[in-house]
Amino acid sequence: MAANPLAPDWLVEPADANELAPGVWSRHVDRADSGALRIAGVPAGALHAAYGTPLYVIDEDDARGRAAAIREAFSSAFDAHGSHVTVYYAGKAFLSIEVARWMIDAGLNLDVCSGGELAVALAADIDPRRLGFHGNNKSLAEIDQAVEVGVGAIVLDSVIEIERVAQAAERHGRTQNVRLRINSGVHASTHEYLATAREDQKFGIPLAEAAATVAAIRARPSLRFLGLHSHIGSQIFESAGFAEAARRLLAVHAELLAGGDVPELNLGGGFGIAYTEADTVTPIESIAADFARVVAAECAALGIPVPVIAVEPGRLVVGPSTVTLYEVGTIKDVVVEGTDVRKYVSVDGGMSDNVRPALYGADYTVRIANRRSTADPVLVRVAGKHCESGDIVVHADYLPGDVTPGDLVAVAATGAYCWSLASNYNYLGRPAVVAVKDGAARVIVRRETEADLLSRDTGVTA
Ligand SMILES: Cc1ncc(COP(=O)(O)O)c(C=O)c1O
Repeated sequence: MAANPLAPDWLVEPADANELAPGVWSRHVDRADSGALRIAGVPAGALHAAYGTPLYVIDEDDARGRAAAIREAFSSAFDAHGSHVTVYYAGKAFLSIEVARWMIDAGLNLDVCSGGELAVALAADIDPRRLGFHGNNKSLAEIDQAVEVGVGAIVLDSVIEIERVAQAAERHGRTQNVRLRINSGVHASTHEYLATAREDQKFGIPLAEAAATVAAIRARPSLRFLGLHSHIGSQIFESAGFAEAARRLLAVHAELLAGGDVPELNLGGGFGIAYTEADTVTPIESIAADFARVVAAECAALGIPVPVIAVEPGRLVVGPSTVTLYEVGTIKDVVVEGTDVRKYVSVDGGMSDNVRPALYGADYTVRIANRRSTADPVLVRVAGKHCESGDIVVHADYLPGDVTPGDLVAVAATGAYCWSLASNYNYLGRPAVVAVKDGAARVIVRRETEADLLSRDTGVTA
């Protein structure tokens, strides 16, 4: 059969639209003999019956295993050069009390970037010294609380924040560790990176202003300067952008050593994952080894010791561990440009539980989850139920042509920036998050109810 001309170039029609591409799905996703999708041994149908849909299902051992493997990859890469790495999990990707604890158990620290994220970390009883606090516009109250509870490091994002954090530290009689976020001029996104004198964005201060800014930090006795910080973007597959940022930062880092201690260098997060089979992911071991080689070579050339390195992956840790289950409601064959047909499969969630396709055109992979089918694959677009034509969950993939209302579908790799960006658009309650492990499921964040949704509306009468 000729390929549907509406399919994007990168999408290859599968021989079998039931198949689960390794690397796209979490490690413990498979199909039972019945054909139903199972996640860590729990059938999709059982999850639907017990918890409803839409539902985020996180494969606990997969998430914990990835966290540990990332820490191990960076540690062994830098150990080889006599250095040490601290891995912070970037909580913005997905944060709940339970998941925060998994990360700490795996030996990671945790980055937060708001008072709310800090509250989750504290509710998880995490030692505040293992927390980093980010943000380009932290409120005075957030700064005060972060200092008061003893957050391990605050990342200063502007000159204005020096005074704010120094004053908070003085008030609380503390010496606060701080990093300085640099706008390195390196921006990387997927397979490309761009290096300019200065990137046109809100985060950090230009490299050229680093020395003067660090001098101002060092002039405040209530602050202790840890080092420079850079984050060059997200969903990055190659190490070249990180290497360029490291080179730029290390040159300044070396100059700063003349004025005092600079114990570490933080190179941020942004490591890419496979959302579809078209995404070719460089293994983290190889990225970490490249990173370590570049940092060590650059330090040798500059004649300085290799600093402690910090990295902050978010997506790479939790992204591939989660699938979202939906129930199919309506189906339409839409004729586009005369004769080509796109099958619209509408599900019971959408941009309120995954805004990434609408926000920046992100692509995902979808499969039928309640059964296996022998029908030929057809091109589909999975749409949500919201009042926006851009409310798309999967722009393009193939499903068996007999997909029908009542089927369950699973969308892969929804662990990062889906739940954390979820909304109540159209007054949909945000879905529950269920952790699955060894054939058992448990709710780690419950579904929002209509009562929750009405609870803040002062018009409610008793
Ligand atoms: C400062 C900082 N660090 C780390 C991350 C995590 O990025 P990723 O989830 O792509 O690894 C982000 C994401 O926006 C970030 O802004």
